[in-house]
Amino acid sequence: MPRKLVVANWKMHGNLASNKQLLEAYIQKITPINNIDVVVCVPYPYLAQAQSILQNTNIAWGAQNISKDAVGAYTGEVSAVMLKDFGARYVIIGHSERATAYCESDENIATKFAQAKAHGIIPILCVGETLIEREAGVMQMVVGKQLDTIINTYGAGVFANAVVSYEPIWAIGTGLAASSDQAQSMHEFIRGKVAVLDKSAAASLKILYGGSVNPQNAVQLFVMQDIDGGLIGKCSLNAQEFEGICRAAT
Ligand code: 13P
Repeated sequence: MPRKLVVANWKMHGNLASNKQLLEAYIQKITPINNIDVVVCVPYPYLAQAQSILQNTNIAWGAQNISKDAVGAYTGEVSAVMLKDFGARYVIIGHSERATAYCESDENIATKFAQAKAHGIIPILCVGETLIEREAGVMQMVVGKQLDTIINTYGAGVFANAVVSYEPIWAIGTGLAASSDQAQSMHEFIRGKVAVLDKSAAASLKILYGGSVNPQNAVQLFVMQDIDGGLIGKCSLNAQEFEGICRAAT
């Protein structure tokens, strides 16, 4: 069975002192678990801190966004090369909290995905539907369209060794996770969509579930065939809860 991947998304939380405590607790509780991959995506200013505390451990670090451009007069943006300077191996792309609040288009997200890949940073592409879309039964159409923007521009091959995270918007931060059947069904759809075009890319693609994952519901989610791990918000801010989720992935 492929190794599960568990990613902490700290969102806009933390400060130098609290990060130090949390990362040291991660090292103590999570580094002994060695049959999964663990990543922590921190706010930009703390990449150097994550690098200095986590280097030489089995926990990788990354960022929560990336510029669609390589270099230039783009005030406030952070490029792939800059992320690499701080040892970032992963980057979250197209999180719904950004897509809605900062008007990120599917086209922008696709370019960011390609930027990350071009620089050897593993993109974690977030996809997912709203509650209204789920209730209308069009969730696969919505997620399919999010993937199509990338596939139509770069081909399905770009999903080789990449990560897609299915994050239904109605499940993020609500305490109401998708059921394991709901998640599995979408994960199967995502893998199938890539597999039709590129079987080997689909096989190496990791598909995470995100949205109110906690130590209690993690086991049921992670045992599903196409759920390769999780993208964890709130519970990643508590080392004990995050450890519980990581253990569920074993
Ligand atoms: P919660 O785990 O807090 O629901 O957040 C999920 C998420 O948005 C991860 O990117």
